[in-house]
Order: sequence, then C-alpha cells, then structure tokens
Amino acid sequence: MKILVLNGPNLNMLGIREPNIYGKNSFADLLALLEQTAKEEGVEVTQYQSNHEGALVDAIQAAYGKFDGIVINPGAYTHTSVAILDALKAVSLPAVEVHISDVDAREPFRQISYAGMACVKTIKGQGLAGYCQAIRFLKEYLKK
Ligand code: DQA
Repeated sequence: MKILVLNGPNLNMLGIREPNIYGKNSFADLLALLEQTAKEEGVEVTQYQSNHEGALVDAIQAAYGKFDGIVINPGAYTHTSVAILDALKAVSLPAVEVHISDVDAREPFRQISYAGMACVKTIKGQGLAGYCQAIRFLKEYLKK
C-alpha cells in the first residue's frame, strides 16, 4: 500500500514557526515520525513538501496511478486553493486532511477548507500525531 504525504507552505518551518500553536518538534521530527509509522503499519510512505501551490497540484496529479491514497496538510492553501481541491477531485484518490492545530478554534478564515471538500476525513488539533492517525485511517479505509 502506497501513501503520499503532502505538506504545504511553511510546514518545513515546524519547530521554529509559532511553537505555541504548532509545537516545538521540527520538520525533521515529523519526517522521522512518518518513517516510523510507515514501518509499524507496513505501508510505504512518501513525503513531499512545497511552499508553492502549483507544485502541490503537480504532486497530486503525479500521484495518479502511483499511490493508493493521500494524506495532505495544505497549510494556508487549505483556506484558499480551489486548484488543490480540483486536483484531489481529478485524481479521485482517497485523501485525508490533517491540521496540526485545531483550525476550528482559530480565526474565522481558517474555518473553511477547500481541500477538505475532497477528503474522506479531517484530523485536526492532534499535533504531529494527527499524521499517524491519518495513515492508520487510510490503511483501514483502503483495506475495505
Ligand atoms: C495548518 C493550519 C493552517 O491554517 C495554517 O495556515 C498552516 C498549518 C495546521 O496544520 O494546523 O499552515 O494547516
């Protein structure tokens, strides 16, 4: 089972960026956690991060026929990007949306998610553990 984990803008700044909101763990810690979860769950996880909307669209398109599912934290593009929503719909791969913070408890503009409209589940406010939950959920979802 092949899962693509996509991270959008500023997620490479984890540990430096607003640690009161996103925690003190670094992006490297997240990558290590993804690797560990992949081993534990017996799935193949590939990670890609970009600060560019089009690059994320390209990565979603490239996943077609290569991956079984997608875990995506589109960062700020969550709240703005119809292009990412359309790309997810175009490839029609099961996708799980992850947010490290509880977006619903923050500013009103964070309470709309375009990407989420094409996702089978949203996990928010669980910190980095949310990515592990998403991988586990997707594994079970894909088994069915
Ligand atoms: C985020 C929440 C977004 O609103 C924000 O723009 C991010 C990170 C999260 O993981 O909590 O960049 O997606």
